[in-house]
Amino acid sequence: MCGIVGYIGNKQVLPILIQGLRRLEYRGYDSAGVAILDNSKQTAVNRVRSVGKIDNLADKVKTEKMEGTVGIAHTRWATHGGVTEENAHPHFGCDEKLVIAHNGIIENYRELKEVLEKDHTFTSQTDTEILAHLIETHYKGDLRMAVETALSHVRGTYGLVVLHADHPGTIIAARLGSPLVIGIGEDEHFVASDATPMLAYTKKVVFLDDGEIAEIHKDGFVTYDLKDKIITKHVEEIEWDDEQAQKQGYDHFMLKEIFDQPTVFEDAIRGRYDIDEGTAHLGGLNMNDEEMRRVNRIVLIACGTASYAAMVGKYAFERLAGIPTEVDVASEFRYRDPIIDSNTLVFAISQSGETLDTLAAVREAKRKGAFVRGIVNVVGSTIARETDGGTYIHAGPELAVASTKAYTNMVAIMVLYAIQFGRLKRITLATGQRLINALLEIPEKMNLVFEQNENIKKLAEKYKNYRDFLFLGRGINYPVALEGSLKLKEISYIHSEAYPGGEMKHGPIALLSKDFPVFAIMVKDQLYDKMRSNIEEIRARKAPIILVATQGDERAKELAEDIIYVPDTMELLEPLLNTIPLQLFAYHVAVMLGRDVDRPRNLAKSVTVE
Ligand code: G6P
Repeated sequence: MCGIVGYIGNKQVLPILIQGLRRLEYRGYDSAGVAILDNSKQTAVNRVRSVGKIDNLADKVKTEKMEGTVGIAHTRWATHGGVTEENAHPHFGCDEKLVIAHNGIIENYRELKEVLEKDHTFTSQTDTEILAHLIETHYKGDLRMAVETALSHVRGTYGLVVLHADHPGTIIAARLGSPLVIGIGEDEHFVASDATPMLAYTKKVVFLDDGEIAEIHKDGFVTYDLKDKIITKHVEEIEWDDEQAQKQGYDHFMLKEIFDQPTVFEDAIRGRYDIDEGTAHLGGLNMNDEEMRRVNRIVLIACGTASYAAMVGKYAFERLAGIPTEVDVASEFRYRDPIIDSNTLVFAISQSGETLDTLAAVREAKRKGAFVRGIVNVVGSTIARETDGGTYIHAGPELAVASTKAYTNMVAIMVLYAIQFGRLKRITLATGQRLINALLEIPEKMNLVFEQNENIKKLAEKYKNYRDFLFLGRGINYPVALEGSLKLKEISYIHSEAYPGGEMKHGPIALLSKDFPVFAIMVKDQLYDKMRSNIEEIRARKAPIILVATQGDERAKELAEDIIYVPDTMELLEPLLNTIPLQLFAYHVAVMLGRDVDRPRNLAKSVTVE
């Protein structure tokens, strides 16, 4: 779970690498480093590393003379060895001619180190440094062959880039389990963990696959498998532009991404519905109507926010299509011998498409013979490529660690799938049309929710110093409560829990007091009266209450003075609106508490370790 960037060309490489690292900081941000081939003496590699954010590294390199047009860089999220400068990448071999940056985990690093230690001196506790020495051992003048041979001794995962002072015109890149993308420019090439560091220079990219190794020069590259066979790669155009990846005037990426939701929601559904037929057409499903009718069980696998989106999806699939649907947290699914057969349809839901647990669950489900489809944001990501089809959610780059717009678009896509299955199984044309019309109104209604932003900010001010929160919801708003609670704890570090309204009396009610506020979703749907009774129970315990209520519900004022009104919509679509005030509340509280909103402590955007 680290970020890698490399460049080879005619430009001064340092600003490109630093800028690239900033784009990748979401992948890990406890330390960072750069290594550049010295232009004046081609036999030397200059390296600077620093603990902390990229800013620290950027300050440090100002005082160093680091000229050169070939280099690699890395932002780290520690797995082996503490957060120290010695453990920061890139890592040298013994003679400091060979330097490597790595993302992933070398599982047999202890065995390898025992052997290597006899002739090599180690300066860090990382598994990566072992790779540097291992490659050095096998180096006989051909850098790619040395990397290839070294990798044949390695167990684990890697995305890695290697430079050698004796080969100033070459970067070697290899991938197994951790993503790497090559960017093709005019007389220059890039390599990085994703395409964002190169977007300002080129949109032409090639995604390396597992088991591939590339020899990259400024004017071209060649890809091999680990048995030395040349692989022809397909060049793809990236649609995202650099501008899209910026904050666009917002104070934080998270706020920008919250406000992106109406636009990217439209991107998600555009061209994917058919109002005349009252259905959806998600071509990526790769199934004909007959195969779809045979599906008798759906399993949704995901982690974090994506798993809460999946819980909303469960309601949609069961209610519209009548297909029993389970949500499984990927890290549990993969180890509990899941029951899967050829009539089970599995969806893997992931923003990054790189979450290791989700990926492993995909592989497990495929092994058991399931159809596995992806609902993924990052184009060309591993899950997108390893699934048997699926749909991109088109949320655009999501850079804040806490997921917002990806959640909304995941829900949108699952609702479309549920409509598509539902129309084959049980819902009428009229119901299908009503749902699609309601979906089309969502962006406008999201904008109405944004009108509550100032009100939400005031509530954040009022509540920011409480130490605990309880989030409550019922039915389809229970996952909304879970997501609201997750957002708050992720970015403000305030403790919070979420429960279905009906479960409150079975435990959490014991916690309630005037110091324990409750955030409750009580909108006008079939569970309104039940939720009202729960709120009465909370009032009796004198816990402060914040309500998310339907616009025009005057009776809500009898229960709470703090109310966030949201527009009415069809019940299945409520999470698309009701989650937004919770995202904004968490955001404002975190800002007011001085938290690092986009990069909260201990978290990472893309979790590529178990
Ligand atoms: C991490 C992120 C979360 C995200 C989860 C799943 O924990 O911090 O925001 O929801 O991973 O990520 P994915 O990319 O698979 O949706």
